[in-house]
Amino acid sequence: MKKVTVFIGSPQKRATYQAVQEFEKNLKSYTEIDFEYVFLSDYHLGTCKGCMVCFTKGEEFCPLKDDRDLLLEKMIHSDGVIFATPNYAFHVTALMKCLLDRMSFVLHRPLFFDKAFTVIVAQGIFGGASIVKYLEFVGRGLGFQVAKGCYLTALEPRTAFEQEKISRKIKKTSLRFYRELMCPTAPIPSFFKLMMFRMSRTSIMKTLDEEYRDYCYYREKGWFESDYYYHTSLGITKKLAGRFFDFLGERMIRLRRG
Ligand SMILES: Cc1cc2nc3c(=O)[nH]c(=O)nc-3n(C[C@H](O)[C@H](O)[C@H](O)COP(=O)(O)O)c2cc1C
Repeated sequence: MKKVTVFIGSPQKRATYQAVQEFEKNLKSYTEIDFEYVFLSDYHLGTCKGCMVCFTKGEEFCPLKDDRDLLLEKMIHSDGVIFATPNYAFHVTALMKCLLDRMSFVLHRPLFFDKAFTVIVAQGIFGGASIVKYLEFVGRGLGFQVAKGCYLTALEPRTAFEQEKISRKIKKTSLRFYRELMCPTAPIPSFFKLMMFRMSRTSIMKTLDEEYRDYCYYREKGWFESDYYYHTSLGITKKLAGRFFDFLGERMIRLRRG
């Protein structure tokens, strides 16, 4: 049975929670799912101090001792992950942003390649679309296979027409996520994803050394030699594009050196 965990960034059990409950119901109508709710407000997560130690030395050296690893473990042990948050001041809530900041080292050393991911955003009036895009971008950076998310205008009191519109959006998002969840193999990367991998690894290879966790991580994973983060069949065009991105990466480093 697939395990799905939703991380909820609202301090209230209202619109976001209701949307996730509907999402869960849809998902369970397709297949049996072990579905876990993680309310970030129930966990202790300190705000990032900006020391950069997680990037340079490793995440275990973070000066904050709290529930970060517990939350990460929940992601590691899931087949699918959902980030659900209200729109606060045109962005994710502080609870959700705190989680993202604290797991930023995973953006340097992505690891969730075999997991499906999507996003649910509840808003009052405006701004949800860009938050969905932002969270999808972060999800891709963390390594997830991202199914397009949705934002819901969840004003109270709600008319029957508004509720129908919300339910339709949740249904479509559930179906997209379900398809991603059931997909047996990680896909061939897009040109953009390939570029991000090749240029990041060139930068790490040429500017860092064994003193840095990113460098050791890439070396241990074999990423300095591989075509992509995971084994994939790139085909001739993407193989050539990969070499071009390596060249671009090296050129950028030469330009930085002046
Ligand atoms: C502090 C705060 C800031 C908010 N900022 C926005 C905003 O910028 N744009 C918007 O459309 N709604 C905004 N809202 C409305 C919430 O996004 C909306 O009520 C949402 O449904 C709340 O989700 P919840 O019921 O799960 O907590 C804000 C609400 C709060 C409490």
